[in-house]
Amino acid sequence: MERIPEPELMDDPGQARAYAEADFAEVNAGFVEGFQQSFPWLGGSPFVLDLGCGPGDIPLRLARAMPGALVQAVDGSPAMIELAREAVAGTEEEPRVMLVQSGLRELEPPPMPFHAVVSNSLLHHLHHGADLWRTIQRVAGEGTAIYVMDLQRPDSEERAAAIVDQYAADEPEQLRTDFYNSLLAAFTPEEVGDQLRAAGLEGLEVETVSDRHLLVTGTL
Ligand SMILES: C[S@@+](CC[C@H](N)C(=O)[O-])C[C@H]1O[C@@H](n2cnc3c(N)ncnc32)[C@H](O)[C@@H]1O
Repeated sequence: MERIPEPELMDDPGQARAYAEADFAEVNAGFVEGFQQSFPWLGGSPFVLDLGCGPGDIPLRLARAMPGALVQAVDGSPAMIELAREAVAGTEEEPRVMLVQSGLRELEPPPMPFHAVVSNSLLHHLHHGADLWRTIQRVAGEGTAIYVMDLQRPDSEERAAAIVDQYAADEPEQLRTDFYNSLLAAFTPEEVGDQLRAAGLEGLEVETVSDRHLLVTGTL
């Protein structure tokens, strides 16, 4: 099945709010746990970048899980950054979570490379997957840990609809529609492998980790 790209930014306030109100607690906790298990040597105080942070649940969880970590969380959507601000405000972690509204291409490199760059469910939004890998190359350094999770495109629209029914049967219509469109917009593991090779990032590995997810990990 050919890829059908979707708009990059989730900047419609209603769409952003529906996403923020969905219950991703288990998935996001699993993301943070998987990240920590993949890079135990990072310790408790790394400088971490979350690209496409959405409503901020993952950066908050990262900061909680690593009590000395500094987390920079970036999203191009003003609506999402506003929701992230609400989520972080008043928490103990607030001083260690820096929210930045920026598109990937415009993102300023930090004064020192990040120790880790993570991203969940951003890649499939991008019209050109290369934008993610180029951004990572700009802000990371030798030894930076990379942990990128995303959807992978199923073989057919029928299979995409079946996945939505299986995993989002009781979700609001907006969320089901977004999930379906995201599956159609996602890259296949083979396409991501090609993107990594084209970017000269052969050190990173792409693997299928569920019937709908792929994971890219490794160190630069
Ligand atoms: C599906 S959400 C994932 C949010 C979050 N990572 C999570 O797992 O809950 C994808 C996010 O990526 C952001 N995004 C998409 N394209 C972007 C770009 N080119 N630059 C910055 N952010 C982008 C969208 O605005 C959206 O908030």
